[in-house]
Amino acid sequence: MTSALTIPRHGGTGEGTAVAARARQVVKAYGSGETRVVALDSVDVDIARGRFTAIMGPSGSGKSTLMHCLAGLDTVTSGQIFLDETEITGLKDKKLTRLRRDRIGFIFQAFNLLPTLNAIENITLPMDIAGRKPDADWLRRVVDTVGLSERLGHRPNQLSGGQQQRVAVARALAARPEIIFGDEPTGNLDSRAGAEVLGFLRASVDELGQTIVMVTHDPVAASYADRVLYLADGRIVDEMERPTADAVLDRMKDFDARGRTS
Ligand SMILES: Nc1ncnc2c1ncn2[C@@H]1O[C@H](COP(=O)(O)OP(=O)(O)OP(=O)(O)O)[C@@H](O)[C@H]1O
Ligand SMILES: [Mg+2]
Repeated sequence: MTSALTIPRHGGTGEGTAVAARARQVVKAYGSGETRVVALDSVDVDIARGRFTAIMGPSGSGKSTLMHCLAGLDTVTSGQIFLDETEITGLKDKKLTRLRRDRIGFIFQAFNLLPTLNAIENITLPMDIAGRKPDADWLRRVVDTVGLSERLGHRPNQLSGGQQQRVAVARALAARPEIIFGDEPTGNLDSRAGAEVLGFLRASVDELGQTIVMVTHDPVAASYADRVLYLADGRIVDEMERPTADAVLDRMKDFDARGRTS
């Protein structure tokens, strides 16, 4: 099994192009006949290992659908999804469930913590369920990275929103998944708590070599990423390397203006 610890960081420099996940000609359609909606329209994308990728685009453009398909949470209508060298499209339920459990981490907009468990119990829950023993050194490093060392005995209702989301981030990191997906992971946080969580996501890429894909509407959140992909009508229409919040905002204004004139 691949360990995230051994994964080198390729961020920013252009050297190394190891691909953590890829989509090839992925189509996702809902419904049929007149009610048919094409949520993803022949999408090709490579997600670089050890980098932080943001996905942006208008509401309904297919961001969540793309992330769910990449993460094996949803099936595709046609096309292929690969996690490293494993084709996940076509895997049977049992294998897919195991692959998601062992190789993929998720951070949801609503933190999805269990209220009766304290922070450290929530963090290790997925591994406990899988019957895997957390690596103590790694766990300490993750907990330190997200700044939760002093809060491990607290239950979710004793933590702020930002702290709860940091628990959710630590839970995703603790099992050392090959890739972590977040669908607007800071969408429910105020800007300060959001900045905290984004800082930890960034640190997990820089210091732990993690691969992260995050859907966001927020140009400031996107500016923490190495690369931004723009979706419109189920297609990837643009991308930006080393985004700044201002550059992302300008690009969004361009899209709005084009949308109005077309
Ligand atoms: N289960 C479903 N059944 C039918 N249509 C769906 C379903 N899920 C998504 N869609 C449609 O697919 C398209 C893409 O939806 P998706 O949720 O991926 O958008 P999004 O970019 O994540 O939007 P938002 O920013 O609002 O979260 C939309 O037109 C949506 O209505
Ligand atoms: Mg969405």
